[in-house]
Amino acid sequence: MHARIVHSTAPTFRKAWSSLVGRRPWICSSCQAYSRRNRYIATQSPSEKPYYITTPIFYVNAAPHVGHLYTMVLTDIIKRWHVLKGEKALLLTGTDEHGMKVQRAAAKAGVEPKLFCDKGADIFKELAQKAEISNDHFIRTTDGDHKDAVEYAWFLLQEKGLIYEEKHEGWYSVTDEAFYPQSAVKPYLDPPTGRKMMVSIETGSEVEWSSEINYHFRLSAFRENLLEFYQANPTWIVPEHRMKEVVQSVESGLEDLSISRPYDRLTWGIRVPGDDTQTIYVWLDALVNYITKAGYPWAPGREHAGGWPADCQVIGKDIVRFHCVYWPAFLMALGIPLPKQILSHAHWTLGGSKMSKSTGRVVDPFHAIDRFGPDVMRFYMGHEGGIQDDASYDNIRIIQLYNKFLNNQLGNLAARVQRNKKWSIKGAVQRVGGQPAEYWAEGPGSNFWHNSLATIAAKVDSSFVAYDPRKAVYQIADFVRGANDFFQMSEPWAKITPFGPGEPGEDVDKIIFETAEALRMIGILLQPWMPNKANLLLDQLGVQQDRRTFAWCQPGVDLEYGEPMVEIGAGHKGVLFPPLPSEG
Ligand code: ME8
Ligand code: MG
Repeated sequence: MHARIVHSTAPTFRKAWSSLVGRRPWICSSCQAYSRRNRYIATQSPSEKPYYITTPIFYVNAAPHVGHLYTMVLTDIIKRWHVLKGEKALLLTGTDEHGMKVQRAAAKAGVEPKLFCDKGADIFKELAQKAEISNDHFIRTTDGDHKDAVEYAWFLLQEKGLIYEEKHEGWYSVTDEAFYPQSAVKPYLDPPTGRKMMVSIETGSEVEWSSEINYHFRLSAFRENLLEFYQANPTWIVPEHRMKEVVQSVESGLEDLSISRPYDRLTWGIRVPGDDTQTIYVWLDALVNYITKAGYPWAPGREHAGGWPADCQVIGKDIVRFHCVYWPAFLMALGIPLPKQILSHAHWTLGGSKMSKSTGRVVDPFHAIDRFGPDVMRFYMGHEGGIQDDASYDNIRIIQLYNKFLNNQLGNLAARVQRNKKWSIKGAVQRVGGQPAEYWAEGPGSNFWHNSLATIAAKVDSSFVAYDPRKAVYQIADFVRGANDFFQMSEPWAKITPFGPGEPGEDVDKIIFETAEALRMIGILLQPWMPNKANLLLDQLGVQQDRRTFAWCQPGVDLEYGEPMVEIGAGHKGVLFPPLPSEG
């Protein structure tokens, strides 16, 4: 097994070798003295470790669709929430460029694979930018530092005796980039063409027979460790039922995993170190991306600087097995702490079936963003997108949400409070804003103060703690509707007592202040979903830039706003949600 290694002269390989013999592979210090519960998860990370969240890396075989956009947006919402809370947070996204799938797509396009990938990566980058994704890294698996990290990981696995060579026979799906045993495939007659083929029972993707010699990873050796880990960390995967599925599948048995393909079949990939006849399996290559950008292999003392262990890894439900079985097993094998949380989301469907690049049943995310704008798309996806259950993509629903909620509830409330000349937000803030807590304890408006204004921030935060961003946005939407009801039922316009110019009386000031506080907090809270619109609302309210964080999301803590920074009611900045242009 080691014979091939000695002959290798690749520089990256020498680097791996010297760092391996020079020091023991790094094991997180908090994992060395582990308790049963935190054996694999470092519960106490050094203070310099940033919050680290990742998306899957996307295949460049075809253009992105709104399913990919959703994953990016969901991940970005969570990242921005942590930034709002004052944490340093890092978001990684990128492209998965090796493997049969991309090799074939490039060949079909008649383009050299690297050029093909350059184009594909640019499109995903552009999508992230257009969607206001605040990614700190964009990894491409063709990057040099990634190749080094993969070779290093391979080498360690081999050193530990966890890789062996054997003949492999089975079914391979290029669409899924996965091997399936006989029990996981079935014959299928393709209705439109009448062609007979074999497909994966789980995914429906076509599989082809393969018989070849390749390298295997001793996955089966990790069965007990995995089960022990799942048992000790029952909420590791959200939602709960995905966790149960994973436990069941590992309980029912775990076979060793083929982790290379013969080079004559798969040329487009990272070569097995020391064996030019084999190419590393694309999923092993791809999963390592998450540690590559966190700086793996780490220099001593730098283990946490790049953010590892990830705080949250967001994935679609289609790739749970890779992330919740193979990935933790690889990490355990390498002696690296596991990610703290896996958030698996459901799919967007179109007319009843999964939106998919392979089938071409897709919605173009660029078109959708051009039509509705990034903020509205992000809000729609965060509000309607599924964690547990699939969601059906529907333009009519976007328009409804815009008209009935964004325009009619939020935009309308902001306009009514800000544009009425009989009162002023600034005056109300100055006259009643500084009152002590007891002032709001009784009388009209006290319920709204105590049950809504004073509690909304903690409610939304607890939803994020439970990794339920969809619940969080529903809570904010309820709060918006509650603020509207409060304003409507309080009837400030009927309570104006003309004490003097610009002074509508204390009752009106109280109502205006409470409503303005609601709007200010809505502006703060909505930033992760709608960075532009939420900040426009805060500009309209005149909230200072450094007072837009979670710490300011309590009633009565900011008494220095009310002077609009943009002209209210005029131009594209004066109106929060103008009527949607009709689609040409
Ligand atoms: O699986 N609805 O890449 P991929 C919601 N390269 N999300 C969807 C979706 C849909 N209809 N379709 C795709 C791969 N997604 C691998 C990942 S990670 C080390 C390697 C999203 O291009 C969802 O997040 O097929 C899904 O998991 C991902 O795109 C798959 O993208
Ligand atoms: Mg896919």
